[in-house]
Amino acid sequence: MSLILGIESSCDETAAALVTSDRRILAHRLAGQEAEHRPFGGVVPEIAARAHVEILPRLVEEALEEAQVRLNEVDAIAATAGPGLIGGVMVGLLTAKGLALASGKPLIALNHLEGHALSPMLSAPDLDFPYLLLLVSGGHCQLLLVEGVGRYRRLATTIDDAAGEAFDKTAKLLGLGYPGGPAVEAAAEAGDPRAVPLPRPLVGSDEPHFSFAGLKSAVLRARESGRYADPDIAASFQQAVVDCLVDRTARALDRAGSATALVVAGGVAANGAIRGALTALAESRGLPFIAPPLWLCTDNAAMIAWAGALRFEAGLVDGLDAPARARWPLDPDAETARGAGVKA
Ligand code: KG4
Ligand code: ZN
Repeated sequence: MSLILGIESSCDETAAALVTSDRRILAHRLAGQEAEHRPFGGVVPEIAARAHVEILPRLVEEALEEAQVRLNEVDAIAATAGPGLIGGVMVGLLTAKGLALASGKPLIALNHLEGHALSPMLSAPDLDFPYLLLLVSGGHCQLLLVEGVGRYRRLATTIDDAAGEAFDKTAKLLGLGYPGGPAVEAAAEAGDPRAVPLPRPLVGSDEPHFSFAGLKSAVLRARESGRYADPDIAASFQQAVVDCLVDRTARALDRAGSATALVVAGGVAANGAIRGALTALAESRGLPFIAPPLWLCTDNAAMIAWAGALRFEAGLVDGLDAPARARWPLDPDAETARGAGVKA
């Protein structure tokens, strides 16, 4: 049994956690920065990095206290080393390096996407490799076949915006504020999902990827036409996203014939319509559908500590010269997707 301290700071959540290799979460401390970024309608990297500097040391102390563990009792220190906003990544990684140096414990410089990919195992102990993961958040929109620790096949990614980004931009357009996903979902409740004709980019295409930029522009045109009520626009937009996610995920399941389960993670997984449609898709394929509790789906440090524990047990530790990376594909063999705004 090993005990890992995990640190996350790649976007706008600062977090520290202590997790054991037998899936016990001894402590998890998380501080969001929504209030700091709200006036700007999105995450401001410079503000995020400064906030991590101020908050992280206290969260680490609180996590150790909550778990009643001293630093020299942990087996390794894991931190997100990318991909993400580079200032924030550097704050977390350097904090971990300092702690590793002071305690003489090994450092594990983790790919944030690996944290997301392995996190469902924390809440679903029966989950077996390989499983298909749909990772949908503000920063990522990917389909990953998780074959084992350190073995990930990226079957699809977005060629422009992430799904959460599309929700956030639609919310901004409709004057619904930030973060946009929950606001769009609430507005959609009162709308008709068939009222506004909107495109489903790449649906039915042989290209495996996602695309949401065209949908966003179509929402803008629908709004500017003045012909539709906002709730109808919200509901029709949400339905278009659901259709894109389901079509692309079904295609990936066809390609990854061996998947034992369909798993969803990322903040967009909070959306009821999306969960419902994915549940139906998994059922139609005779697969279990696994959606971890929301706090584990969104950015957190428990997933970093857990992925760190699995890597530590596999003997995969890093030197203190491990770099911070703004971009870091989880599957280096994945074909590059077309488009300029390709996310990690
Ligand atoms: O995983 P997350 O907390 O952070 C990262 O982006 O890594 O995801 C946040 C994203 C935001 O874009 C937010 O608008 C979206 O998840 N989101 C939702 C919902 N709740 C959060 N999107 C659609 N429906 C929701 N209910
Ligand atoms: Zn994330």
